[in-house]
Amino acid sequence: MNQEDYLLKFEVPEIIHGMGALSKIGLCAKRLGAERVLLVTDPGIIDAGWVDESIKYFEKEDLKYVIYDNVVTNPRDFQVEEGTQLYLQKQCDVIVAVGGGSPIDTAKGIATLVSNHGNISDYVGCNLITQPIPPLVCVPTTAGTGADVSQFAVITDTRKKVKMTILSRAIMPDISLIDPRLLQTKSEELIASTGMDTLTHAIEAYVSSLSWSLTDPHAIHAIELVTEHLIPAAKTRDTKALEGMSIACLEAGMAFSNAILGAVHALAHPLGGLYDLHHGLINSLLLPVVVFQNMEHAQHKFAKIARALGVETRSMTIQEAASYVPEKIKELIEELGLPTRLSQLGVNREDIPLMAQMAQEDLCMLTNPYCYSVEEIEKLYKEAW
Ligand SMILES: [Fe+2]
Repeated sequence: MNQEDYLLKFEVPEIIHGMGALSKIGLCAKRLGAERVLLVTDPGIIDAGWVDESIKYFEKEDLKYVIYDNVVTNPRDFQVEEGTQLYLQKQCDVIVAVGGGSPIDTAKGIATLVSNHGNISDYVGCNLITQPIPPLVCVPTTAGTGADVSQFAVITDTRKKVKMTILSRAIMPDISLIDPRLLQTKSEELIASTGMDTLTHAIEAYVSSLSWSLTDPHAIHAIELVTEHLIPAAKTRDTKALEGMSIACLEAGMAFSNAILGAVHALAHPLGGLYDLHHGLINSLLLPVVVFQNMEHAQHKFAKIARALGVETRSMTIQEAASYVPEKIKELIEELGLPTRLSQLGVNREDIPLMAQMAQEDLCMLTNPYCYSVEEIEKLYKEAW
């Protein structure tokens, strides 16, 4: 190992958080030099009224805008290309994403192609984006993906039906503008599944082989916040709980963007690519299965996770405390009423060998506390089936 392999870093965008933060969207774009904004969003966000509100703030700052809204869950490569064409044709100068992980990842993809050209598949992997992207402001409408503070973008290759993971410091947004009010228009199921994505980010970042002193406190605090706020946020949309989940998502995002993820995400990506399933839902289902296998490879850390999940661990051995983690996660999933078997989601058992191969090659497997073989991954999928 050479000296550079020991260097660690911690990158985050400028973060503005609080009830009513959306009112700063025009000002943020203007501050980054905007005259004509490309607003990337989806039809659900338009229906919820957040795009109309954003436009009001653009107009207040005398900004012109163009809207790209042909974005779906698990965003596609051709949507990134369409958005890029629109940005170039209309001569936009700043990109603003308002939405969940899908519009934000699409916006990152557009930003990449605008200045780096070629196909989005050219940038799959680590730090392959060499040219700076246009200024990017992200306004998350879910408390789940953390895409607004991460250097990840996941785009579906529609021809190969695989999810492409792009990891590059060049796509870190300039500003993350977080308004917990925006979570109020989401369904109970969406708050529950995106919240489980947040919990997965926090746990995977905490046990990642790249975790360190600047990522650990955020990861562990995110787990505590999910433990306290996810159920009331999903069941009652209580303002304090939604605010708590927005911070949980933010801290988990800062942790995983810098410490990267693990086997849950590696196993989830093939399912998203082949079956177009909701990312948070798959992570939730795979999390207890993977954690059970991961435990022996990071026992000290799982003992601390147990405590953050509300287990009274003081009189326990490390091993005992760690063993509570999968059970606590299962309890949470049950209380949220989320599915627990891949077969419930229509996944074919015959696809498991192909998915295991894809998961083994996924970037996220590299930082898991233990690198699973294809055969071991098949076993994990079968347990979750
Ligand atoms: Fe995720």
